[in-house]
Parts: sequence; C-alpha cells; structure tokens
Amino acid sequence: MTNRYPTRREAIKAGLLTGAGLAIGRLPLAAEAEESGQLPLITRPIPSSGEQIPAVGLGTNRYSVSTPEEMAPLREVLRGMPGLGGKVIDTAPGYRRSETVLGELMAELGTRDQFFLSTKVTAPDGDVQEGIRQMENSFKVLQTDTIDLMEVHNLNGTDAILPVMREWKQEGRIRYIGVTTSRTGAHESLMEIMRREDLDFIQVNYSIGSREAAENVLPLAQDRGMAVMLNVPFGGRRGSVFGLLADKKLPEWAADFDCNSWAQFSLKYLISHPAVTCPIPGTTDTEHLADNLGAARGRLPDAAMRTRMEQLFDSY
Ligand SMILES: NC(=O)c1ccc[n+]([C@@H]2O[C@H](COP(=O)([O-])OP(=O)(O)OC[C@H]3O[C@@H](n4cnc5c(N)ncnc54)[C@H](OP(=O)(O)O)[C@@H]3O)[C@@H](O)[C@H]2O)c1
Repeated sequence: MTNRYPTRREAIKAGLLTGAGLAIGRLPLAAEAEESGQLPLITRPIPSSGEQIPAVGLGTNRYSVSTPEEMAPLREVLRGMPGLGGKVIDTAPGYRRSETVLGELMAELGTRDQFFLSTKVTAPDGDVQEGIRQMENSFKVLQTDTIDLMEVHNLNGTDAILPVMREWKQEGRIRYIGVTTSRTGAHESLMEIMRREDLDFIQVNYSIGSREAAENVLPLAQDRGMAVMLNVPFGGRRGSVFGLLADKKLPEWAADFDCNSWAQFSLKYLISHPAVTCPIPGTTDTEHLADNLGAARGRLPDAAMRTRMEQLFDSY
C-alpha cells in the first residue's frame, strides 16, 4: 500500500489533471483545479431534494484500525479527498471502529463539513431500543450533530426502526434515510420495501461482474425517485474484478470515455447507468482514491459502449 499524494504524472494518468502549470507533487484544491483545466466533476442529484453529490464516494468497511501507524494512511485519504472533488463517505457501526476512526480524523483535520456522511443502523429482531442506541452512538463517535444519510443495514429491522429514523429526519438530526443490501438473494425483499416505503436512498450491490440489480432494482429506484448508492462496486460472482483484469490490457477505446485504469473502467460503467447516483469503492490508499475519483470526471460511456464493456468483461 502506498499512501502519499499522487505525483502530477500519476494524477494525469488517473484523469485528474489535464492542464499545465500545476505544482508537481501536490493536487490542486477544487476551485484551483477547475481553473487549471481539470476535467469537470460529474455530480448526480438526490431525487428527493435535488442536492448534487459527486458521482463517486468512499467505502470504509476496512477502517477499523487502532494504532497511529494504521491511522496514518487513512488520515491521508481523508485529507486528500476534498481536493480531489470527493465528498460522500459510507460507514456503519457494523464496521467496528470505522465510525470512531472517521470521527477522530475529521475532528483532527477540521473537515466534517466537507463530507456527506452516510452510516447505518440495525434493529435485530425488531429491537427499536438497540437501533436507537446504535444511532445515538453514531452521532457520538462520528462527532457530529447531523448525519447526512442513515440507512437500515442489510434490511435488518427495517419496519421497527424506519419510523424512528423518520422522526429524527423531521427533527433535522438525519438529512436522508434509506436501506441497504449487498446480497443479490435479498433483492426481492429490498424491492418489496422500496414499493411500500418512501425512501431517499437505497444502497445495493451492482458491478460489472455482478449486474443483476440492473434487471429490476435499478429501474424500480428510478420509478420511485430514490437515489442509488452502490456497494462492492469492484465485486462480482467471480470475485474482485481486479483478480480477473490484473494481467489484461485496457482497450484503446477506453480513452473514448476518458478512462485510464481498470478501476475507472469499472466505475464509469456504473456511473453511466441512468439510475445510479454514486458507487462507494472501498479504499485505504491515496493513489487508489485518486484513481477512483478520476472516474467522476470527463466523458462517460453511452449505452452502446456499455454493451461493449460488458462483452469485453464477459470474454475474460
Ligand atoms: N450491506 C451493506 O450495506 C454493505 C456491504 C458491503 C459493503 N458496503 C459498503 O461498500 C463499500 C465498498 O465495498 P468493499 O470495500 O467491500 O468492496 P469494493 O469497493 O468492491 O473493493 C474494495 C477493494 O478494492 C481495492 N481497490 C479500491 N480502489 C482500487 C483501485 N483504484 N485499484 C485497485 N484496487 C482498488 C481496495 O484495496 P485498497 O484499500 O488497497 O485500495 C479493496 O481491496 C464498503 O467499504 C462499505 O462502505 C456495504
């Protein structure tokens, strides 16, 4: 793992910079970047409000660390993210110390207001008090008065805890509510909830290696006006896409949609689906962060190109 700001050459390779005159070894701040000719950031509206968020976020299910040595690379990811145009961070009490680590780092860097924070809650066996305890603890360890998005993790206790989430949204403690799953086998249950509940967001598994959500979950989210966050965006039935693609050469036509890496190939495939708001690739590495956020810049594949991408992926 290499955790430092990408060099100018690496940033250009990641599709982050196109202009000349940028200081070597540091990435520009967002405003500076626009002036310097960086490709424009792709944002997506949250349908229930119209608020725009960047089309690529950050997953933190591997942020449960304790020692200063373990914290250091994660601090660099959080420090670099706003300058790269990133904003959305996904966490959960289920990721053990992830929320605590994020809370400590944001407090230290003074950057809470630069992020759109998404966390989760469960009410096992309908235990509302347990759900309330978890949510109160999330506010405490994230060191924040407002949580941007609260989602029921893995649909666990949805009926019990959603009414409380709605109350807290009314009170302004939570800005948006939703539900998540990362199991294709739970898509039917997810859709049953989507049909009967008003939700701002859903979070679901969808990747070029696992495309089932596109059959019915994504169209339903469009019909119901729900934002769609994507978990495990590099995952798939045959394991991580990187395992399959590591020794393969990126096709030359990937340049037609400003794509410089297999990570960007995977993410641009997802972002270009009309129902998708924001994949949340997990990373603990600043170079991977720059690579991933580079996918939220420049041109995107059209429908014909998306089919070509699927055909290429399926041929491996
Ligand atoms: N039910 C749920 O609600 C649920 C379930 C699962 C996940 N999630 C959420 O979704 C997020 C994403 O899922 P995930 O982290 O399990 O899987 P993922 O995003 O598909 O893959 C993460 C892996 O890809 C690597 N990676 C990231 N960017 C890369 C790049 N540009 N080049 C090469 N490798 C790269 C990471 O390693 P490095 O750290 O070295 O970059 C890590 O090993 C989670 O963090 C979590 O927030 C939610």
